[in-house]
Amino acid sequence: MKINIALLAGDGIGPEIIDQAVKVCDVVAKKYKHTINWIPALTGAAAIDAVGEPYPDSTHAVCEAADAVLFGAIRHPRFDNDPSAKVRPEQGLLKMRQKLGLFANVRPTFTFPSLIDKSPLKRERIEGTDLIILRELTGGVYFGERGRKNGGDTAFDTMTYTRSEIQRLAKKGFELAMTRSKKLCCVDKANVLESSRLWRETVQAMEKDYPEVTVTYEFVDAVAMRLVQWPNTYDVMITANLFGDILTDEASVISGSMGLMPSASVGEKNRLYEPIHGSYPQAAGKDIANPLATVLSAAMLFEDFNLTKEAKNIRDVVNKSLAAGIVTEDLAEKDKSYKTSEVGDWLAANI
Ligand code: IPM
Ligand code: MG
Repeated sequence: MKINIALLAGDGIGPEIIDQAVKVCDVVAKKYKHTINWIPALTGAAAIDAVGEPYPDSTHAVCEAADAVLFGAIRHPRFDNDPSAKVRPEQGLLKMRQKLGLFANVRPTFTFPSLIDKSPLKRERIEGTDLIILRELTGGVYFGERGRKNGGDTAFDTMTYTRSEIQRLAKKGFELAMTRSKKLCCVDKANVLESSRLWRETVQAMEKDYPEVTVTYEFVDAVAMRLVQWPNTYDVMITANLFGDILTDEASVISGSMGLMPSASVGEKNRLYEPIHGSYPQAAGKDIANPLATVLSAAMLFEDFNLTKEAKNIRDVVNKSLAAGIVTEDLAEKDKSYKTSEVGDWLAANI
């Protein structure tokens, strides 16, 4: 198979972790006789510096034309404490999601046998955790009307959802549930928010089309609590953009390190794969960041192209590296850590 992949390294540790994923993918491609054509393009602060905007049209054209996008991270601290900045790297990420129509963000959370005791949560709480948060990604409060009034002293952001936006996300949730344990949890705040009531109404109306799926409805504040108490009772969860943003960061600690969790963002036509962690600016250029979330995101990419053996090979070698202690400092015992690039080399050599 020939796959064209747009390569958006972005900011901070982005370029370092992306390099490792590319190494691994190239070896996998060679082993299974595929050709990957990488097409690098600018995004984030790097793109602001080069061309004045974080998701330039030229980058969009590359992403649109490719079969998939592999993305590193976006964010630069120099914009964080400058509320007056006219352009921000994060705007590039949002624009990219919207322009590519990536309405469903698939964020799995699972545990690794050799890392169970690295999690801040007790073994018996997390063992067997294998859940997927399906986060709506191109609507809600991230994209609703916002602004200032009363001479700037009042600010507002609105959470707006249409029935069709909810339906297309929920459809993916039901379909995913059908391939797993047939359990779907709709996470909302329907006791307070009108948009959440529309979520509930819409999902309830869809239940009859998926009679085998058991649907539960839970409030997001309660889920925030239960997710760390009993994560292994959840399977597929669907939720709005902001709720999903918060819950997926929370869920990432279950595995033991934020540097481990991959994600896919999909729409009708385009697909993008990225680690769920950010650009970790303090570590940029130091060759210390954990590349596994990006490598596992590449495994999700192969999986989506029905290249199941290839995806499994990547996941197996990642598990092997964890078991062998070939890990970056976030996971290593004292003085036993490996560099980002060394982990990448080891993975590539062991595919
Ligand atoms: C994420 C990030 C982004 C988001 C930021 C960087 C805009 O936190 O992908 O979860 O809020 O969606
Ligand atoms: Mg986030």
